[in-house]
Amino acid sequence: MDAKVIASAGQPVLKLQDISKNFGGITAIENFSLEVYPGEIVALVGDNGAGKSTLIKIISGVHAPSAGTITIEGQSVTMSSATMARSHGIEVVYQDLALADQQTVYMNMFLGREPVTRLGLLDRRKMIADTEKLVKELDVRIPSAHATIRDLSGGQRQGVAIARATHWANKLILLDEPTAALGVAETAKVEEIVQSLKQRNIGVLMISHSLDQVFRLSDRICVLRRGKQIGVRRTAETSKNEIIAMITGLQEH
Ligand SMILES: Nc1ncnc2c1ncn2[C@@H]1O[C@H](COP(=O)(O)OP(=O)(O)O)[C@@H](O)[C@H]1O
Ligand SMILES: [Mg+2]
Repeated sequence: MDAKVIASAGQPVLKLQDISKNFGGITAIENFSLEVYPGEIVALVGDNGAGKSTLIKIISGVHAPSAGTITIEGQSVTMSSATMARSHGIEVVYQDLALADQQTVYMNMFLGREPVTRLGLLDRRKMIADTEKLVKELDVRIPSAHATIRDLSGGQRQGVAIARATHWANKLILLDEPTAALGVAETAKVEEIVQSLKQRNIGVLMISHSLDQVFRLSDRICVLRRGKQIGVRRTAETSKNEIIAMITGLQEH
C-alpha cells in the first residue's frame, strides 16, 4: 500500500489548533493549526523570521503559547517545560545545538536521564555501551563514546544530537535545520536517519531551508509566512515553484 495513505490514516501524533504566540508587541505565530501523523515527515518552510523556530519551541515546551491547544495522540497537553515534552516522547534537535561542550559524547546522550546503578552511582558502563551501540547503528562517525563534544566537527556534533533524539523519541521528533552546517556526505547520512524513523512510526516535523531536501524527504510541506500558515501541500502534488510562491507571497506568472 502507498506509504502516504498509511501516514494519513488514524490518529495524528501531534495536533496543533489555533496556536498563537506574542513576544511583547510582536506576533510571532498567529492562529496556526497543523497535524502530524505517525511515520510521516512534515516539512516546515518559510523565510527568516517566519516563526518556524518559535513553533518548534512551543511544541517542545520551551515557550508557552499565548493561545491555542496542543494534542498528543488525542490527549490535550500543556507543555510547560522541555522535560514534559520529553516525557511525552517528543525530542528536539535545535538549530543552535544544545550539547554540553565540556562533556563526553556518552554523557550528552543521557544528559538529565542518566541511568544509575543499584548503589545510586552513575551507570557509566551502561551509558558507554548504549552510546557505542547507537553510534554504530546510526553510523555516526565519531572517534569514541569518550570523546569530548568540543573536539568534534560540526557534523559529528549534529550526529550526536540526532542520535540522542532518535534514541529517546518514541512519538515525535522536531528538527530545526538539522543539516544547515553539514557537508554533502554528512547531510546524506542525516537524511537516511530521518527516513529510517518512518519504520519506527515516529512523526517528524522538520525545518529546512533546502527545498531540494524538503522534496527528497517530506510527505507534506507546510508554509509559514510572518507567523501565519499559508497552506499545506502533499509533496507529491506540488512543485518548488508553488512552494516558493507561497513562501514569498509573490504570485507565479
Ligand atoms: N524570545 C524571543 N523574544 C522576542 N522575539 C522573538 C523571540 N523569539 C523569536 N522572536 C521573534 O519572532 C519572530 C519569529 O522568529 P523565529 O521563530 O526565530 O523565525 P524563523 O525560525 O522562522 O526564522 C521574529 O520576528 C523574531 O524576532
Ligand atoms: Mg529559525
